[in-house]
Amino acid sequence: MINDLINISQEAGQLIKEKFGKNLEIEFKTNEMNLVTEADKASEKLITEFIRKKYPSHGVLAEEGSEFNISAKYLWVVDPLDGTTNFAHGLPIFSVSIGLQKNGQTIAGVVYDINQNIIYAAELGSGAIANDKKIKVSTNSNLGHSMLVTGFPYDVKDNPNKSFERFIAMIKSSRAVRRLGSAAIDFCYVAKGVFDGFWEVHLHPWDICAGKLIVEEASGSVTDFGGKQIDIYSKRILCSNGNIHESMIQKLNEV
Ligand code: IPD
Ligand code: CA
Ligand code: CA
Repeated sequence: MINDLINISQEAGQLIKEKFGKNLEIEFKTNEMNLVTEADKASEKLITEFIRKKYPSHGVLAEEGSEFNISAKYLWVVDPLDGTTNFAHGLPIFSVSIGLQKNGQTIAGVVYDINQNIIYAAELGSGAIANDKKIKVSTNSNLGHSMLVTGFPYDVKDNPNKSFERFIAMIKSSRAVRRLGSAAIDFCYVAKGVFDGFWEVHLHPWDICAGKLIVEEASGSVTDFGGKQIDIYSKRILCSNGNIHESMIQKLNEV
């Protein structure tokens, strides 16, 4: 099935790329920060129609409303376009993210970085790759020498929930903090050793499912802010190369 995840992510990515930079219809979801475009919808339609046709007994949980058979043995967890705000504003950092669960455990994950044309993929127990090359997290163990990444939820203005304090604490204790706007790509850059760590609150299962497995298969750690194991429904994600995990937990909990 991993080949199907890869192929359909690439097909969806191609469709999104063709729509990039065009004058698209943009709608607001929960507020003016939370957008959905016709590219998100078209990508989701393509992916879910493929799954329905080839794997009719499988379930789907996807961001733009497709939800069926969610208690099936196999569940596809789909972000049809991760980085919609970047896409809508012409910033070429966005991806397609598809995770596959069997009986509640993620067994495969693919993130397609559309503009870099890189497929990140992992199968449970088999390691992680970026376009056929094995990837591993960084070896750095000094938070002060780390480059980190984070993101902010769409309701951050109404419900800041210490997001800004955590951001300040991390900027003060690391070399640099970035905010790319695609959580799936953030995970992959930790897996590849570009970023040493990533934290975010209020992500959704489709932001987490594939990326979490890719980081774990690249020998990284993914927990909540207390260091506990998480599933894809968790609301606090901390992911790192493992070596700086404890230092990040300490800083995140100081605020
Ligand atoms: C968003 C991106 C962003 C993160 C947001 C997500 P979307 O996903 O991953 O980096 O900060 O929390 O909701 O809406 O572009 O699919
Ligand atoms: Ca997303
Ligand atoms: Ca999305």
